[in-house]
This record gives sequence, structure tokens and C-alpha cells, in this order.
Amino acid sequence: MSNRRILLLGGAGLLGSALKDELSAGGHLLLAPAHSELEIADYDKILLCAREFSPDTIVNCAGFNQVDECERRKELAFQANAFGAGNLARIAAEIGAAIFQVSSDYIFKGDKKGEYREEDLPDPLNLYGKSKLLGESAVRENAREFCVIRASWLFGPGGPNFISKILTKWKAGAQELKVVSDEKGKPTYSLDLANAIRLSVERNLRGIYHFCNQGTVSWMELAQEVFEIIGKGPKLIPVSAEAYRLPAQRPKNSALSSKKIEAALGLTIRPHLEALKDYLEKMEI
Ligand SMILES: NC(=O)c1ccc[n+]([C@@H]2O[C@H](COP(=O)([O-])OP(=O)(O)OC[C@H]3O[C@@H](n4cnc5c(N)ncnc54)[C@H](OP(=O)(O)O)[C@@H]3O)[C@@H](O)[C@H]2O)c1
Repeated sequence: MSNRRILLLGGAGLLGSALKDELSAGGHLLLAPAHSELEIADYDKILLCAREFSPDTIVNCAGFNQVDECERRKELAFQANAFGAGNLARIAAEIGAAIFQVSSDYIFKGDKKGEYREEDLPDPLNLYGKSKLLGESAVRENAREFCVIRASWLFGPGGPNFISKILTKWKAGAQELKVVSDEKGKPTYSLDLANAIRLSVERNLRGIYHFCNQGTVSWMELAQEVFEIIGKGPKLIPVSAEAYRLPAQRPKNSALSSKKIEAALGLTIRPHLEALKDYLEKMEI
């Protein structure tokens, strides 16, 4: 395996920070400009940067990922998640690089009984999901060599996530937490996903893949797991998504099957519960 020259967008985010460590430790040469230095909607500036650095691989972890805010700031969501992804794909084609685009479980509607597979038809419920799906299409249409990796329910060091948020509320003194119990998915550890993306880059994976840790739970069950591991915590009160009243509607079931990427990379992805223990240990609660 030869070392790669990788342009990483979104390297300061939850997944991007894990990927920065993973790719550097793997011996790859990395350029990871901050959002303040490089805006993915700015085609000319990215092209200039790409021509100077001359990457063989572009990895896009950048995006506007606040699901509820996307309902309010539609233009910004589409600019970053769809238009920005398309820009990167066009530039990748122009300089002869492959592009790895990270996408989301929220491109699915959530009415399937079992796990979503790569060939299932997307039908997003919210604007975030719609912008991510358009981003996927833009990559497929414009890049010569691409890999789309869809993930779900990310947690890990390096950025706010469901687990860090409930822990912050508890540490701030909350005695009770209302948690949605009628939406289920597969929590995914950013460090495990970063490892799979590095392997995908090194092995020239092409096409569409799903990557999630094993185990499907509701948000309520995930919160219960967190406080069971810690051994203490607030009273958890299950509520329906309807009663919780967030601006963006979410899929009831967005569990993704990771069988295709497991076979392609020769991986056995571990259960999220194991990864959750690692994460909580790192957080030193
Ligand atoms: N988080 C999840 O639960 C989840 C689930 C499924 C899939 N995903 C996907 O995983 C990927 C990474 O998500 P994440 O949670 O790690 O995201 P994140 O923590 O929100 O990080 C996103 C990064 O992108 C940067 N960014 C935002 N807009 C940009 C723009 N227009 N130009 C350049 N940089 C921009 C942000 O910088 P600033 O903060 O400075 O703006 C930030 O560093 C995304 O593709 C997301 O759709 C996430």
C-alpha cells in the first residue's frame, strides 16, 4: 500500500477529527483546512488549493449537520451538503483524484421493517436528509471515482453528540431527562468509522456503502445503556417523537445494514455497546 495525499474537508468536526488522527497515524500526507480557511461552496478557492496540494484523494466530512437548524436555514444546508459536495466531486474529476463522501441514514424514510441496504430507495423526510441525498447525487454525477459511505447516529470525542449532550444535562444537575423512545437506529463510534474510511481509501473502495456499529436501539435505550455503564444517572422518561416536538421529522427506523462494507473490507464491526464503553472511558466521567 502506498501512502496517499489526502485533502480532508471538515477535519475539525466529530468525524473529521477522528479521521485526521487515523489518516495521519496511517502515514498518509494530509491537508485539512478549517472551515474558516476553505468553504466548500467556494469552487475557485478549492480548485486553487487542490491544484497546489495535488491530492490523489479528497475526503468530505464537511457539512451543515444540525438536523433541526437545516429546516430553518434551508439555503445554508443545500449550499454545504449538496452544492459543496458537487464542487468537490467536480474538482476531484478535474485533478484526477478519488472522492470519499460521507452521507447519512436520514436519506431514508424509516418505514422499512428491517435494516436498510445500499440498494434501497432513498426518500428523506427532512431538509437535512434531502440536502444529503442531493449531495450524494452530485458526487455520483460529477466524480469519475467515488465512494459514498453512509453512517448513522455518530458519537465520539471531538464534537457534540447525543451522548455528550445527555451527560452535559445530567452533570448540570438535571434530575429527569425526557428521551424519545419511538425512533430507532444504529449508534456509530466516530473512531470505528474513521478506521473503516482509512481502509476504504487504502483499498480503493468505490460505490455506495453503509457503515454502522452493530446493534439497533431507540434513543431511550441508548440513554439507558449510557447510565447503566456509568452506574448512576437521572430518571429517564420515555416520550414519543411527536410529544418531543423537534422542528425536523426523523425516520422511525434508520438502521442500516453494514454487511456490504464488512465483506468488502474483511471487517467484523463491533457492537456499539463495546464502543460506548471505550468512549465513556475516554470521557473520564
Ligand atoms: N453526526 C451524526 O450523527 C451523523 C450521522 C450520520 C451521518 N453523518 C455525516 O457524517 C459527516 C460528519 O459529520 P459530523 O457529525 O462529524 O459533523 P460536524 O461535527 O458538524 O463537523 C462538520 C465540519 O464541517 C465544517 N463545515 C460545515 N460547513 C462547512 C462548509 N460550508 N465548508 C467547509 N466546512 C464546513 C464544520 O466547521 P464549522 O463547525 O467551523 O462550521 C465542521 O468542522 C457528515 O457528512 C454528516 O452528514 C453524521
